[in-house]
Amino acid sequence: MRNPNYHITIRVAVATLVLLQLQLLTAGQPLRMLKDLMSLKDIDTESDSAKTVLSMWNSTFPEVIIPPLLLGRLSPLHEKDVERFSSMIARGSLSQKSVEFCETSNLSCNSSIGRFSPSGTVFVAAVLSTSSTDVNPCTPKSNITSQSELFERDNVFFPEETLGNGRQVMLPDLHDPVPMKAFLPRSLAVKFPFSCEGLEDLDNMLNISKHSNMSYNMAMVIKACETPSGEGQIKRCITSVEDMLEMVASTIGSHVEVLSEPSIQGSQELVTVIEVKVTSSTSPLSCHSFVFPFGVYYCHYLKGSEVFNLTLKSEQGTVFERSAVCHAWSPSLKQEFTALHLSSQNKACHWLYGSNLLWVPKS
Ligand SMILES: *[C@@H]1O[C@H](CO)[C@@H](O)[C@H](O)[C@H]1NC(C)=O
Ligand SMILES: *[C@@H]1O[C@H](CO)[C@@H](O)[C@H](O)[C@H]1NC(C)=O
Ligand SMILES: *[C@@H]1O[C@H](CO)[C@@H](O)[C@H](O)[C@H]1NC(C)=O
Ligand SMILES: *[C@@H]1O[C@H](CO)[C@@H](O)[C@H](O)[C@H]1NC(C)=O
Ligand SMILES: *[C@@H]1O[C@H](CO)[C@@H](O)[C@H](O)[C@H]1NC(C)=O
Ligand SMILES: *[C@@H]1O[C@H](CO)[C@@H](O)[C@H](O)[C@H]1NC(C)=O
Ligand SMILES: *[C@@H]1O[C@H](CO)[C@@H](O)[C@H](O)[C@H]1NC(C)=O
Repeated sequence: MRNPNYHITIRVAVATLVLLQLQLLTAGQPLRMLKDLMSLKDIDTESDSAKTVLSMWNSTFPEVIIPPLLLGRLSPLHEKDVERFSSMIARGSLSQKSVEFCETSNLSCNSSIGRFSPSGTVFVAAVLSTSSTDVNPCTPKSNITSQSELFERDNVFFPEETLGNGRQVMLPDLHDPVPMKAFLPRSLAVKFPFSCEGLEDLDNMLNISKHSNMSYNMAMVIKACETPSGEGQIKRCITSVEDMLEMVASTIGSHVEVLSEPSIQGSQELVTVIEVKVTSSTSPLSCHSFVFPFGVYYCHYLKGSEVFNLTLKSEQGTVFERSAVCHAWSPSLKQEFTALHLSSQNKACHWLYGSNLLWVPKS
């Protein structure tokens, strides 16, 4: 085990259903934080699965360098492992080998994990809230905190007028709320049921107990994924890097750049905006990482969005940059707009942080 005991306070503050401040004791758990991951010297990009993704990446996005946070999560599985586990799935015998499967694939199948909101951002929670009173097995009971309370605590969203020189803004807690785990190669990921209906089978295959926090997290994620996208929005949950590449190429094309900002510089600090630049005035595709035993991202595209590069100055005088995305009003953002007291003529912005990715069309 490379990590000593961690005591991490993970503040996941997200909209509606979601619960705010989670204290997660991760003593002895293979939770690798992003900064450790970034410094890993032994990232295995030599596996057959990793090679497949890198070669697809090369041919789809020849100009784009793969971000470390995806590179570090490519599957360590070789072709022979994929074949072996695939045939276990076909025979219905994977659950007897779930420990080996999860370890070999670098997944997190431990049932005892904290409860997470589906994402480090408010988007998904807003999607979820529309169905939060459904009596659906995929809609776990949860404590609904008022939206504005969450926004105040959260600071992930802010009104567009904050983007003025000299304006002060409180940055949110920029620590990644989502523990990292590897993606599955697509050939294997497609063999796992990813639906409310299939959740029980999925739990069995990975030996995750039905009433555990992990199963609860998975139900939240799947429910968010199954909720239809609102008007003006294209969304899809992807369960492999291959799926993400295809979605990006089909939604915004191949002439893109990918932004990510895992740095926690300025976390929960009051900073002054000293310069604002438009990075892209064409809508990006945003991909938000989810808590799941294997890598799952929620990717969505909202018309009328813009990407900005902000130069910020801390109270100690440190100057640094962070990106933000601003969205025009859309029905799927109703709650964010209401919480910020914005009208449909305004725009609502949010920071890019953690393991989230922003695919930006290049002009
Ligand atoms: C799962 O996590 C719990 C709590 O962190 C830990 O005590 C337990 O040993 C873990 N189980 C396995 C199989 O790693
Ligand atoms: C998988 O996990 C092991 C042990 O935690 C680590 O040594 C290895 O580098 C990981 N592989 C990948 C591809 O991340
Ligand atoms: C990606 O392309 C570059 C040059 O175009 C090549 O050197 C590299 O080996 C390729 N990588 C993979 C994994 O295909
Ligand atoms: C499934 O997990 C339980 C603990 O939750 C463990 O006792 C059992 O041995 C596991 N089964 C297999 C086949 O790994
Ligand atoms: C489940 O999650 C809650 C909230 O994060 C936590 O207090 C509790 O200890 C977790 N349970 C287990 C068994 O890990
Ligand atoms: C839910 O929220 C209410 C009011 O904020 C609080 O009194 C209660 O303890 C919460 N329940 C749980 C399970 O967190
Ligand atoms: C923001 O602008 C700075 C200075 O021009 C540049 O170094 C940085 O790469 C930009 N960041 C992004 C995400 O565009």
